[in-house]
Amino acid sequence: MQGYKEFLDEILITEKALQERVAELGIKISQDYAGMQPHLICILRGGVMFLADLIRHITVPSTIDFMAISSYGMGARQSTGKVRITLDLQEDIRDRDVLLVEDIVDSGYTIATVLEFLRTRHPSSLRVCTLLNKAERREIQVPIDYCGFVIPDKFVFGYGLDLDELYRNLPFIGTVNPERYHSGE
Ligand code: IMP
Ligand code: MG
Repeated sequence: MQGYKEFLDEILITEKALQERVAELGIKISQDYAGMQPHLICILRGGVMFLADLIRHITVPSTIDFMAISSYGMGARQSTGKVRITLDLQEDIRDRDVLLVEDIVDSGYTIATVLEFLRTRHPSSLRVCTLLNKAERREIQVPIDYCGFVIPDKFVFGYGLDLDELYRNLPFIGTVNPERYHSGE
């Protein structure tokens, strides 16, 4: 894990704070889905770390599936609203209680598109759980049922989120120092 320190501005959310909040979310989800069997859908790749920790705190029977999307048009740091499904689900979600698990909601376009796509398959319920919410960047209104942290408008990395594909394995969330990190824009 060499190298990240030079791009790190500050640790925004420590490993301890992340683990505590993820545990709380898992407990809340378990209460809300009591008697049900939530089907958690993780959007690759950023949501993987969050999903893996979250499901360890979910005490109701649950299943998981994955999908991948890519946004295109602008730089790696901005969503254009154009989102393409690049990996479809393995399982049918009809009549399932789907919980979408995301790393971060920024403009909202990704989640909006994915929700629209999932709705066409008629799940019996559909909720959103995001670790991070950059609320002030929202361009399209999206429902968020579970949120770990509302964060300021800064580019963040670690705990699943990448800095040009690197550093997803860091156990904390850090902000990027814009003066030292330029590529990808
Ligand atoms: P949205 O469509 O603008 O809501 O963007 C959501 C996607 O943009 C996330 O799933 C991330 O892949 C990416 N993203 C947005 N902000 C950040 C960030 O600060 N760090 C890393 N990825 C980000
Ligand atoms: Mg993502």
